[in-house]
Amino acid sequence: MDVKSRGISLFLLLSIFSTSFSDTDQVLNSEKLTLSTTVHSHASSFVFQIKGNVYPIGYYSVSLAIGNPAKFYDLDIDTGSDLTWLQCDAPCKGCTIPQNQLYKPRGNVVICEDPLCAEVQSAFPCTVANGQCDYEVHYAHRVSSLGVLVRDFIPVKFTNGSLQLPILGFGCGYDLTHPGHNPPPSTPGVLGLGNGKTSIVFQLHSLGLIRNVVGHYLSGRGGGFLFFGDQFIPQSGVDWTPMLQSSSGQVQQNYRTGPADLLFDGKPTSVKDLELIFDSGSSYTYFNSIAHKVLVDLITNDIKGKLLIRETADSSLPICWKGLKALKSLHDVTGNFKPLVLSFTKPKNSLLQVPPEAYLIVTEHGNVCLGILDATEIGRENINIIGDISLQDKIVIYDNEKHQIGWASPNGKCDGPSKL
Ligand SMILES: *[C@@H]1O[C@H](CO)[C@@H](O)[C@H](O)[C@H]1NC(C)=O
Repeated sequence: MDVKSRGISLFLLLSIFSTSFSDTDQVLNSEKLTLSTTVHSHASSFVFQIKGNVYPIGYYSVSLAIGNPAKFYDLDIDTGSDLTWLQCDAPCKGCTIPQNQLYKPRGNVVICEDPLCAEVQSAFPCTVANGQCDYEVHYAHRVSSLGVLVRDFIPVKFTNGSLQLPILGFGCGYDLTHPGHNPPPSTPGVLGLGNGKTSIVFQLHSLGLIRNVVGHYLSGRGGGFLFFGDQFIPQSGVDWTPMLQSSSGQVQQNYRTGPADLLFDGKPTSVKDLELIFDSGSSYTYFNSIAHKVLVDLITNDIKGKLLIRETADSSLPICWKGLKALKSLHDVTGNFKPLVLSFTKPKNSLLQVPPEAYLIVTEHGNVCLGILDATEIGRENINIIGDISLQDKIVIYDNEKHQIGWASPNGKCDGPSKL
């Protein structure tokens, strides 16, 4: 892939936003978000460095500057949901980070009759026009965030050198639920990158700042980068597949694609016509229970006689195997597992390669575990989710202008857009 001419240095990202601005609240309250879908041909792009990994951390995050003066918040990057939210000192029930790191609202609450509010409140129509706009988001594992919408400055340094101070809407979460044995959220919040109108991708696009495109590179060695705008779409080597549309022609909520067939070691399987959701907010990949069982049987048969036996004492993931000795890294074992491929039918031959590195982890106990889980685990028998593990080492592009999702595998290691 040759995108050198468009390359920029990641150092750009590391510059600290020290700009201060006055009359914050006045600006916040006078600025209204316009929900338009105009195409802005001069829009630029920007990039964030990503931290995190699939295991043992379990998520990828970026550090986002918010407010005036700006403070930095680590947010879990989530293409599976729209609304960005922060743990918020309102005060907060169920927050998991120290109080001095919580976001503090300051008279910047979005009111109920604001168009942005309609997007989070379709279930509870606005009763008091100038009342506060409440929201509630639910994730898998019965994790949820309840709070109020606010607007604040999110300073962004664009690749063309300009520093912009867009005012974006997000949630101030003051009631977080994470029941049972599910770990509480470990980041101060979630960066919602879905295709809905509350997503910050859509908001930045509506302000004319970027094309309605977002993408990421999650490195298998940890870290990576997240880009907004269309500047970093590789010019060649991308496999594209359309986002699914509903019968009325609307693009469906979440980044849904398909149908796709599963190949095992290059050969067709009985797993066909999968609808898949690309979700960077999910650490692992999930298949519907029938497809999952087929896959587990294929793998189990294939590794017979390979000195790997089922290990039920490792609770890291539901299905693990141990070798003769404790495994140190995936390299010790990937040769024993076959590559998978998701073969999309639109267009034909659009292939998502899922090598063993993109579906296995080696745990701290030295076992290898299957990172494709049964969706029943999250109470959704019929859903298929492509999570971080299978998105690793690819540039993945969510193009809401052309309603398509694409992926490309850079040759060799990829430390930043300038080296693609
Ligand atoms: C740089 O990009 C931003 C965001 O798209 C835009 O608002 C600004 O006008 C651009 N500046 C120049 C000098 O092109």
